[in-house]
Amino acid sequence: MLNFRFVKDYLLHRLRAKNRHGLHSPFVYKLVDTVIYNYADQKVYHEVENIRQKLLVDNRVISITDLGAGSHLNNNRQKRVGDIAANALKQPKLAQLLYRLAANFKPRNIIELGTCLGITTLYLQKAAPEAHVYTMEGCPQTAGVAQETFAQAGLNSVELITGNFDDNLPGAINSLDQLDFVFVDGNHQKDATLKYFEWCLPKVHEDTVLIFDDIYWSEGMKEAWAQIKEHPHVTVTVDLFWIGLVFFKSGRVKEHFLIKY
Ligand SMILES: C[S@@+](CC[C@H](N)C(=O)[O-])C[C@H]1O[C@@H](n2cnc3c(N)ncnc32)[C@H](O)[C@@H]1O
Repeated sequence: MLNFRFVKDYLLHRLRAKNRHGLHSPFVYKLVDTVIYNYADQKVYHEVENIRQKLLVDNRVISITDLGAGSHLNNNRQKRVGDIAANALKQPKLAQLLYRLAANFKPRNIIELGTCLGITTLYLQKAAPEAHVYTMEGCPQTAGVAQETFAQAGLNSVELITGNFDDNLPGAINSLDQLDFVFVDGNHQKDATLKYFEWCLPKVHEDTVLIFDDIYWSEGMKEAWAQIKEHPHVTVTVDLFWIGLVFFKSGRVKEHFLIKY
């Protein structure tokens, strides 16, 4: 939802953020230059966007169970799949950035919190076909449509876990020796976001990337992002306004980068 505070934060970010010029960190310069700003068209984008187009015209109506930031609102609402596709999914520009990030970091495992209809999951799996992808969704009927999406795309290495993140994330983290790539795209509340971050910490390593969506969505999310940045294990963050990237590279002075996207 657009509000005055959000627009102000966006404009401030545009004023303060850099593009690739003037970046003195070779790691961040390379990431921005070759991954974040690599807008070249790719065949895979068309494959996934064709599936999004089908979801956009899907007139089936499903019952929504909301376990996230909107759960205090009217729960168990009926929604058209096409309306969910239009309103709840990452737009192509961001979803394709996630694809490039996963393709660049070559994770062995990926955890996604917030499958919804499965569009970002498709991008992530296609970016890292060898990776084991765990994606979690709290709404059973939404998860059902995502499962169809995966079948349509011929994906077989995605594990869709239905239920509350609170119940399923600790087990998924425990089952892995380390976490390579985590995308948090659901339940945008301060305490929940900080909890997911804390749960990930014991398994992060030199090359882990944690990605938090909607870091300016509310005052609570801004506070969560500020606390994540300040955590002693975090060394580099990249704030793209829409999402924030968190790295744990050792032997570095803590640095936070604001990048225009
Ligand atoms: C923004 S959507 C995800 C969009 C998806 N990543 C994409 O762009 O293709 C967030 C999803 O997280 C789910 N969700 C929110 N809070 C949750 C929770 N606590 N446990 C499980 N699922 C949750 C919602 O049901 C919703 O489908």
